[in-house]
Amino acid sequence: MKINPIRGTHDLFGVELKKYNKIISEVNDNAQKFGFNELITPIFESSELFKKPLGEQSDVVLKEMYTFKDRNEDEITLRPEYTTPMIRAAISNGLLNNLPAKFFGTGQMFRRERPQKGRYRQFNQINFENFGSDDFFADIEIINLANTILKNILPESKITLHLNTLGTRENLKNYKQILSNYFNKYKNSLSADSVNKINSNPLRILDSKHIEDEKIIEKSPKLIELISKLDLKSYEEIKNCLIDLNIPIYEDLNLVRGLDYYCHTVFEFKTDEIGSQDTLIGGGRYNGLIKILGGKDIPGVGWAGGIERIMLLMKETVFNEKQIHLAIQEPNFKNEAIKIYDFLVKNNFSVYWNYKYNLKKSLSIASEKKAQFIIIVGERDKTKNNFVLKNLFSGEQKIVDLNNILEHIK
Ligand code: HAM
Repeated sequence: MKINPIRGTHDLFGVELKKYNKIISEVNDNAQKFGFNELITPIFESSELFKKPLGEQSDVVLKEMYTFKDRNEDEITLRPEYTTPMIRAAISNGLLNNLPAKFFGTGQMFRRERPQKGRYRQFNQINFENFGSDDFFADIEIINLANTILKNILPESKITLHLNTLGTRENLKNYKQILSNYFNKYKNSLSADSVNKINSNPLRILDSKHIEDEKIIEKSPKLIELISKLDLKSYEEIKNCLIDLNIPIYEDLNLVRGLDYYCHTVFEFKTDEIGSQDTLIGGGRYNGLIKILGGKDIPGVGWAGGIERIMLLMKETVFNEKQIHLAIQEPNFKNEAIKIYDFLVKNNFSVYWNYKYNLKKSLSIASEKKAQFIIIVGERDKTKNNFVLKNLFSGEQKIVDLNNILEHIK
């Protein structure tokens, strides 16, 4: 019986797992530096947690959630995102008494999307949330944190920060109405996909990728025109601060995000190196959401990044560790080889032997795996306990022993 993995899921091993672990370790390091505490929540939650907060008309709620009835008829959903579970957990455990309360977490999310490069049905997210501050310092801090993590993991990639402001929830509500009215006038020219969203979710038309929609979207009314002077001033301050921190921004007036809970600052870190699933990190402010979920009326700001999408940009060469290969010419040299092996491992080297007494084969594996050194344990002057160390990069060969080998391989 052969059982295949479920469409849109994948196993992690080898170099890919190394990439994954590198991201997790960078996240943990920076969480500590920026003062965020880890919060791990269950993989499934009551469906109610997601439906209203993410938006009854959002793609995630309408068609992507894995929802099922438990044996006692409770409706349960595999978490499609981490912000609402974090808030639920913070409220359930009384973690919002000392503000600001800053949390992070990493783990699997589930969305029944059409799988393609960078888009999966089970994927991993990094998630950072700052609960309790309305000060724009919190927006800057969380964006700077995202930028720092990406720069440390992907120093050679070009990643652009897209930024916009949505104003208040009231602004957004009015804007939806204005947009519906506007798009209704172009019903006959818009793509079928967009026509379906004119009344239910006109904001989503703004990030349509259909060519026929492009021109109509370009000329659509802009949300920024509804936003108060005071809110725009705060947004200007955020932009100036980011520029001062050397974080270049691309102001994207059509950036509205796909979940309903946002207001004021929204942002995405995008790349043009991995195809259409080009958003590595997305986030923003969600003042009002914590109250909707039964907590205090306190603001919040955060982001989530797709680990698999970040992995697509990571270079494999980073993971070529210094590995030393062993070649044991005959079984009676094995005890000697074990001592060498033990000495090197205890000195933090990674040692590989293919369990075969065949010098030619060992040499060919070592060169295939790009090992810099091979140690050949075989016939030589036993009284001196020495062996051959060959540098496969330079071709140089030396007779060494355990007292001096470290000088030659460091
Ligand atoms: P989101 O934009 O839905 O936001 O997802 C954030 C990131 O998760 C995306 O930018 C992408 O990298 C990754 N992602 C989403 N769907 C998939 C998928 N099907 N396959 C692979 N990667 C995916 C949120 O989830 C919000 N909770 C972010 C947030 C946190 N806002 C405030 N705090």
